[in-house]
Amino acid sequence: MAKAKPVNELKCTFPSWSANEALARSVAASFAAQMNPTCEEVSDIKCAVSEAVTNAIVHGYRDTVGEIQLILKLYADRTFSAEVRDRGVGIRDVEEAMRPLFTTDPEHERSGMGFTIIENFTDSLRVVSSPGKGTRVIMKKKLSMLPISK
Ligand SMILES: Nc1ncnc2c1ncn2[C@@H]1O[C@H](COP(=O)(O)OP(=O)(O)OP(=O)(O)O)[C@@H](O)[C@H]1O
Ligand SMILES: [Mg+2]
Repeated sequence: MAKAKPVNELKCTFPSWSANEALARSVAASFAAQMNPTCEEVSDIKCAVSEAVTNAIVHGYRDTVGEIQLILKLYADRTFSAEVRDRGVGIRDVEEAMRPLFTTDPEHERSGMGFTIIENFTDSLRVVSSPGKGTRVIMKKKLSMLPISK
C-alpha cells in the first residue's frame, strides 16, 4: 500500500485557528466519501484527523498562529491516508509523546490520549518530528470493501 500512486489526492493549508479543526475533519470526511465508507469509518477518520490537527494547533503552535497542511490521499486498494504537517515547536522524544497518558500540557486538562485515539481509529500511525522544525503525522486506514449490490 505504501508506494502505490494515489487515485485521488487533496492538499490544503490553513492557519492554526481553533475553528479550522472542525473544517479539517469535515474536509477529510468529504474527501473519503467518494469511497463509500461506512458511518463508523467516517467517524474514525474525523476523530483521528481532528486529534492530529488539534495537536498542531495547541502544541505545535502553542500561543502563536502558523500554517497547517492537510494532505489526503486515496489508493485503489481503498487505503485512505491523511497527513497533518505543522512547522511548529516539534517533539523532542516521539516515542515518549506517543505513550498513553503522556502529555506536556496537564494544566489545560489534556489527558495525553490523542495519539492513542489515532492509533485505535486507524491501521497505522507514523509521527516524524524535529524540535524547532515541526511535526508530520501520517495516518492510514484501509476502508472495508463495498457490499455487493443486487
Ligand atoms: N504537533 C505537535 N507539535 C508539538 N508537540 C506535539 C504535537 N503533537 C503532539 N505533541 C506532543 O505529544 C504529546 C502527546 O500528544 P497527545 O495528543 O497524545 O496528548 P495531548 O494532546 O497532550 O492530550 P489530549 O490529546 O488527550 O488532549 C503532547 O502533550 C505534546 O507534548
Ligand atoms: Mg492531543
